[in-house]
Amino acid sequence: EYCNFAELMVSVDRDEGTATVTFARPKSLNALCESMMTELNRAFKMLDADDSVRAIVLTGDNVSFAAGADIKEMAKQTYPEALRVNFLAHWTDAFKISKPVIAAVRGHALGGGCEVAMMCDIIYASTDARFAQPEVRLGTIPGAGGTQRLVRAVGKSRAMELCLTGDVLTANEACSLGLVSKVFQPDEVLGAAQKLARKIASQSAPVVKLIKEAVNASQEMSLEAGLAYERRLFHSTFSLDDQKEGMAAFIEKRPAKFTNQ
Ligand code: CAA
Repeated sequence: EYCNFAELMVSVDRDEGTATVTFARPKSLNALCESMMTELNRAFKMLDADDSVRAIVLTGDNVSFAAGADIKEMAKQTYPEALRVNFLAHWTDAFKISKPVIAAVRGHALGGGCEVAMMCDIIYASTDARFAQPEVRLGTIPGAGGTQRLVRAVGKSRAMELCLTGDVLTANEACSLGLVSKVFQPDEVLGAAQKLARKIASQSAPVVKLIKEAVNASQEMSLEAGLAYERRLFHSTFSLDDQKEGMAAFIEKRPAKFTNQ
């Protein structure tokens, strides 16, 4: 069922509870055309519904995570058509899933590529990763979160500077700004992201879901409302077998065996 994609590869490790989704348009440096993003949407919805998958890695190839929206496809876009189809809205929709998504970024993460990396829950980068919002140089503006998520990730002054110039952030700069959580050698980043996915997949599935929901809610609400929301979700965990098991295991000095109930 996961073979039915033309511009993506999806591999699932059911024993480990992880999946890896790989952009596969190397000739255009993984430019994000409409058909590939439609496939990403479908793949993520399938993985979200698959109980054997608990965490997802999204990656590209050695040269490029993604070099942005497909400029050749987009060049002829018109305003009425963009309005009619709500152009790019389905990119964000693809990421409205409950399971954590880790970006493993090598090479270019430019424009829409940087924006898609920022839609992921965690970004791991290799030393050769490069992040930028070069839309200003194309006579347009970021359209999939560059002016919004980048501000939240690195602060207003730096985000403004990056969006107004298209200048490139190295992996180490992106890491020191908090855009990226860790930097690895190029041949290690995908393995590190998959190891992180396995670690997340070994936790209680409902608890992982609640944590992702709570952290993402912090981006949308005031501190007071967020704290109240978090506390209610925290309270709800006391209805889970996994909370009983996790705390009993701690007291009995043994590893917890979560049943995802
Ligand atoms: N769209 C379509 N095709 C792209 C592309 C893109 N975003 N990025 C690269 N390609 C294609 C090139 O056209 C080229 O194809 P041909 O061989 O058919 O000519 C092929 O990929 C290889 O690219 P280059 O020859 O340019 O490779 P390079 O190593 O010399 O340069 C690069 C690499 C610096 C990434 C350069 O390709 C580049 O600047 N790409 C565009 C980056 C960009 O501006 N991205 C933002 C897009 S706008 C956007 O994303 C809007 C939004 O908010 C969603």
